[in-house]
Amino acid sequence: MSQLLSINNLSVQFNTEGGLIKAVRGVSFAIQAGETVAIVGESGAGKSQVFHALMGLLPGNGKAQGEVDFFGQSILNQPARALNKIRGKDIGMIFQDPMTALNPYLRIGAQLVEVLMVHKQMSKREARKIAIDMLERVHIKQARQRIDSYPHELSGGMRQRVAIAMALLCQPRLIIADEPTTALDVTVQTEIIRLLKEIHDTLNTSMALITHDLPLVAGLCERVIVMYAGHIVETGSVDDIFYRAAHPYTQALLAATPSAALLNKARLDEPGDDKNQGKRRLQAIDGQPPDPLNLPAGCAFHPRCAYADKPCFSQEPDLQQLASGKQVACWHSLEQVQS
Ligand SMILES: Nc1ncnc2c1ncn2[C@@H]1O[C@H](COP(=O)(O)OP(=O)(O)O)[C@@H](O)[C@H]1O
Ligand SMILES: [Mg+2]
Repeated sequence: MSQLLSINNLSVQFNTEGGLIKAVRGVSFAIQAGETVAIVGESGAGKSQVFHALMGLLPGNGKAQGEVDFFGQSILNQPARALNKIRGKDIGMIFQDPMTALNPYLRIGAQLVEVLMVHKQMSKREARKIAIDMLERVHIKQARQRIDSYPHELSGGMRQRVAIAMALLCQPRLIIADEPTTALDVTVQTEIIRLLKEIHDTLNTSMALITHDLPLVAGLCERVIVMYAGHIVETGSVDDIFYRAAHPYTQALLAATPSAALLNKARLDEPGDDKNQGKRRLQAIDGQPPDPLNLPAGCAFHPRCAYADKPCFSQEPDLQQLASGKQVACWHSLEQVQS
C-alpha cells in the first residue's frame, strides 16, 4: 500500500476570550491508499479539528501548525485557491448534517452538475449524466426524476445519500466522513454505513471515519485511532483496539459500549437486525472530559483513570510502539512492555 495522507505533529489552537484552547496537540498518523481508518473519542477530543485544519476549514480564531502531506503535496496552511482544488476533487467530505454540503435554494441536480463542471471541466449535459449515475450508485430510486428535487423535498437519509454522491462525484482519493450518521434515525444509520462500506469495497476509496460510536467502526474500518483531549492515546487494528485495548481510556470506552454490539461485526450484512441499535450508542464513561482551557498536568486522562499514580500526574506519556503496528500513550502500558 502506498501512503496517501501523512500528518506530522499537527497542533490546532483557538484564541478565545477565555484564553488559548489547545484542541489538537501533536497528532501524527498516516492513511494508506485504500485504507479505512476510524478516529474515535468523546465529543471535544479534537477529532473534527484535525481534519478541518488539513482542509483549511478552521475559523478565523483557529491556527494550525505541523506538516500535512496529501499525495506528495504539502497542504497545511496553503492558500484557499490551492485547497479549493483539492477539496471536493481529491478529498470528499461528508458531514453530520447533509445541509452543510447542500444549498437549500438549488435543485440537487444543479449542485451536482456544478461540482463536475468546476472540477472536471465537463459540459452540462455530460455532468448531468454522471450525476444521475452517481445518485443511482448511492441507491436513490428514480434518480432521473429525483435529481430535479430541492433538498427539502427529500428525507434526512436521502439528503445524506445526495451529500455522499456529491462527495464521490470526482472520484476522490480520500473520503472524510465526520459523524455521518449521528443526525439520522437508527435504521437509516445502518443503511448509510452499509453504503459507505459498499463504496469502499467497490471503489477502493480511502476513508477516514470520525465517530464517537465504536460499534459503527467494527463493520467499516480496518484501523482505529483513539483521541483524548487533543492527543492520540492509542492506535491499532480494529482487533487490537476491540480485543486488546491497552490504554485505560480505550478500555473505558469499550466497557461503556454493549459488548454484543461490538462483537456483532457481521451485522452490516444482516438486514433486519436493527432493533437493538438504539442501545449501541456509546454510553458516558465516568467523570468529565477535561476543560480544554485548563488541561490537567501530566497525562490528560489521569483524573478519570483508576491506575493513575506518580508519573501520570506530572508527565504526559508519548505514543510508543507496543506490538506490530499498535501504539499506546500510557505510563502503565509502557511499564508492562519494558518489564
Ligand atoms: N471555533 C472554535 N473556537 C474555540 N474553540 C473551538 C472552536 N471549535 C472547536 N473548538 C474546541 O476544539 C476542541 C475540539 O473540538 P472538535 O475537534 O470539534 O471535537 P470533536 O470533533 O472530537 O468532538 C473542543 O474543545 C472545542 O471547544
Ligand atoms: Mg466533531
